[in-house]
Amino acid sequence: MTTFAPAAAARGAHPLDPLRPDEIARAAQIVRAARGLGERVRFVSISPAEPPKHEDGLAPRAAEVVLYDAAARTTIEARVDLHAGAVTSWRELTGVQPQMTAPEFLAVEAAVRRAPEFLAALRRRGIEDASDVDVDPVSAGNHGLPEEQDGRRLARILAFVRPNPGGNAYARPLQGIFGLVDVETGELVHFEDREPVPLPPGDGEFRADRVGPLRDDVREIRITQPDGPSFTVDGHEVRWQKWRLRVGFTTREGLVLHHVGYEDGGRLRPVLHRASYAEMVVPYADPDRFYQAPLDIGEFNIGTMTNALTLGCDCLGAIHYFDGAYAGPDGEPVVVPNAICLHEEDHGMLWKHTDFRTGDVQVRRGRRLVISSIVTVGNYEYGFFWYLHQDGSIASEVKATGIVATQALGDGETPEFGTLLAPNLGGINHQHVFCARLDLDVDGAANTVVEVDTEAVPQGPGNEHGNAWRTVKRALSSELRARRRIDPFRARGWLVTNPSRRNAVGEPVAYKLVPGDNTVSFAAPGSAMRRRAGFVDHHLWVTRYDAAERYPAGEYPYQHPGGDGLPRWVQADRPLEQEDLVVWYTMNHHHVPRPEDWPVMPVARIGFELKPWGFFDRNPALDVPPSEPGGGGSC
Ligand code: CO
Repeated sequence: MTTFAPAAAARGAHPLDPLRPDEIARAAQIVRAARGLGERVRFVSISPAEPPKHEDGLAPRAAEVVLYDAAARTTIEARVDLHAGAVTSWRELTGVQPQMTAPEFLAVEAAVRRAPEFLAALRRRGIEDASDVDVDPVSAGNHGLPEEQDGRRLARILAFVRPNPGGNAYARPLQGIFGLVDVETGELVHFEDREPVPLPPGDGEFRADRVGPLRDDVREIRITQPDGPSFTVDGHEVRWQKWRLRVGFTTREGLVLHHVGYEDGGRLRPVLHRASYAEMVVPYADPDRFYQAPLDIGEFNIGTMTNALTLGCDCLGAIHYFDGAYAGPDGEPVVVPNAICLHEEDHGMLWKHTDFRTGDVQVRRGRRLVISSIVTVGNYEYGFFWYLHQDGSIASEVKATGIVATQALGDGETPEFGTLLAPNLGGINHQHVFCARLDLDVDGAANTVVEVDTEAVPQGPGNEHGNAWRTVKRALSSELRARRRIDPFRARGWLVTNPSRRNAVGEPVAYKLVPGDNTVSFAAPGSAMRRRAGFVDHHLWVTRYDAAERYPAGEYPYQHPGGDGLPRWVQADRPLEQEDLVVWYTMNHHHVPRPEDWPVMPVARIGFELKPWGFFDRNPALDVPPSEPGGGGSC
């Protein structure tokens, strides 16, 4: 085993800190030196190897490396001790496909643009020059088709032509072209050119200099924080009023929160040990697009698609940015400057009461701490937002924007599985399903999840006037029993309780998971998407903490036939009461496109809240000071 002298950089960093660019390069160098990688071996990801829970303050700095050997068709998982400079584990896997990387994406596009069948299809549509044609690779999925089963690494394609250089390609879909591509060879495994549909006439322009006169009555809003923000940052540790947390970044998930706790009466009380969006799927509802259901996090390593944010545009105010870094195929670090934005926002009224007899007014303005990151996945943008509030609540929101998936339509045609967005242009019905992995430790690791429903009491003796209703609670005692759906007609929510810690009224301290907008999957049970993204079957899953159970659709969903991840783990039906638990919340943004979503979609939001529910003995925001009246008519 080759070892390197400990890098000074490896010391002093917290084990949960994102890998720095020099650590990524060093991890790649250690792997190369130890293993002499073949010519066709490339790096898929290099991420911090998070130590097992409760050892994470002590563990040495380590990296988790995934490689793909295209010659042997094996996926390699290695672990690198950055302090000792050694490869500490090495595992070669067959029968799985690692994540698709951006260079592979571009190689697929380049190969298709050279393919004679594709060029013939372009000519059939009157396109002689392929330079304005975009080919978007789509994850191949696994639909039980014979050509999907022989171990080749595959992608499907969608094609578009830009109305002008730099213009919106999604305005001009090349309808009727279907292709399945071998990612390694660039060969078209399957190609079909069905009946062409004329290109839609509109140009789908939305750039500021192309949309005509801009409104001229938008005056400047300036956020000034003359004393600076109320947070402090030390490395990746953040303190904001009574909240404490660590900000993380991984190749697969992008933004991650660690060790979120609240200082209360001189004690730091844990709430969330780790939180991230651990998987998502975007299934389309048109039978022609049966294959379009990408698991953008697990199939594409969404951290690698993180936007570099710029001051004053994405976030406003006094901002602290964290950079992100991931490995390119050669193991060299790729840095995303300003990948994560940390800032505070005024959040309107926090609480208020006017004593109408004495005229005394007590009002407090609320603030929230915002930790956010934005990714671009092909046509779509997703903003992943976490909010910490002064009343002890935590909220999360995904903001979806960008450009909807389009199809070209013949004259007079209206889409059965979508909406007419513009002349001869349809938007396809789809959903965006996100699964948040919430490793809650509510005042300690041993927690119990309790479902809370509301029920009406039948009118009769004891409820003579029929006005009575009450809540009913039921502990979710094992993993199979803890697969639950939302129920707005029962005002359902889930308490994550700590039965060994009692509040002032003798109840277990708790946080409540309060669902936001949500619905179910409308794809057939047993369909490829439902098998591959089985987490969509339930809104709530609860599992016993296991360091190896990280991703709801499994470690390697690319081309996976399905059944991995949550549906498999819960078959153990482990008991859940007063155990170290992980809560998985699935939320389904139902997107029937509107004309207003074209040519670029105003932000759509979906989220959930974690509200303290007897975690504190009273309103924890009593000590927020009143705001000082400002000048210029403000406050
Ligand atoms: Co959408």
